[in-house]
Amino acid sequence: MVLHKMNTIGIVGATGLVGQTLFEELLKMPACRSKNFVLFSSDKTAGHLCTLKGFRSKVENLTDNWLKRVDFWFFATPQHVAAHWIPSILNTRCANCIDGSSAFRLHKDIPLIIPEINIRQLTRANRLVASPNCTTTIALMALWPLHKVFHLKRFWVHSYQSASGMGNDGMRELEEQVKSWSEGKSHANVRNFHKPLAFNAIPQIGNLDADGVSEEECKLVLESKKILGDANLKIFANCVRIPVLRCHSMEINAEFDKRLNLDEAKMALKSAEGLCWYEEGYPTALEHSKQSACGVGRLRYDNALDNGIAMWVVGDQLLKGAALNMVQIFQHWINL
Ligand SMILES: NC(=O)c1ccc[n+]([C@@H]2O[C@H](COP(=O)([O-])OP(=O)(O)OC[C@H]3O[C@@H](n4cnc5c(N)ncnc54)[C@H](OP(=O)(O)O)[C@@H]3O)[C@@H](O)[C@H]2O)c1
Repeated sequence: MVLHKMNTIGIVGATGLVGQTLFEELLKMPACRSKNFVLFSSDKTAGHLCTLKGFRSKVENLTDNWLKRVDFWFFATPQHVAAHWIPSILNTRCANCIDGSSAFRLHKDIPLIIPEINIRQLTRANRLVASPNCTTTIALMALWPLHKVFHLKRFWVHSYQSASGMGNDGMRELEEQVKSWSEGKSHANVRNFHKPLAFNAIPQIGNLDADGVSEEECKLVLESKKILGDANLKIFANCVRIPVLRCHSMEINAEFDKRLNLDEAKMALKSAEGLCWYEEGYPTALEHSKQSACGVGRLRYDNALDNGIAMWVVGDQLLKGAALNMVQIFQHWINL
């Protein structure tokens, strides 16, 4: 794919949290500044003016007329929107697309890419690439350097996820609830979460299946297996929503096939691309907000396991968990 032949880049979901972050990251690429960006949203905000870093544009409503007019598409919308439009885009013209939703992540012919891990799966022949679930990406960023040295046998992820994982309205809901509590009003307006989120912890993200597994937990397990290329890997996830505005935090326990030494594990994490190693202290959501790198600290042996370790991992789920990962895929793609 050649960038200079690409005139128009479309961002669908440009008014959303991921879409806005994505647009900001793309504008940091000098080669992209001369491109014609077209921003799309739902009927609700189409027609509004978007201004970002000197760029001003009216937000458009995506219709069939646009399908032939965009060379490269980014989708940062709910999954049903991506599932509706992407097949038409791929049928209409030879455009390429990166989807940040879950619509195509588990399709066997669609690469699911974290560049630091499996960029080799991306080829010139691909037209559509999926970017993984945010919790999956942050967890695998820390597990991958250890997997390369010690080989993963199984792992557990206990996540503490922020309100912005539910998009603009999730963040707004938490802010409203905190304000309402601080004004002494007991009722909480619950829209995006299963219980009031302010001053609370909710052990459910998405619907529960017949076995009691939540959608978020299911994504983490299935997407990790696909990215690591091991359908038999044993993975357990427990995903909890907490009243934090941005960044997902997680405790990861992992067991490896090879004999594990803590110093070697530290070296692997310290030298890994995209990670910030905490020799002392530990990362937190507030510190990692708007940071590209994911933070890892509190590495210790997990003596309940054979060759086991435990670690604390934090990442900005709007950046490495979504927008930044999509832009990194784009950068690799145009360099192929
Ligand atoms: N938030 C995260 O941490 C995160 C991380 C990884 C992946 N993701 C995934 O990224 C996607 C976007 O998430 P988000 O957090 O950015 O959500 P969001 O803040 O709610 O934004 C959703 C965007 O999609 C647009 N949209 C909704 N329906 C549409 C339609 N019919 N046609 C065109 N655009 C439409 C919205 O437009 P309006 O403004 O007009 O409503 C808005 O721009 C989701 O699939 C999500 O699962 C999110």
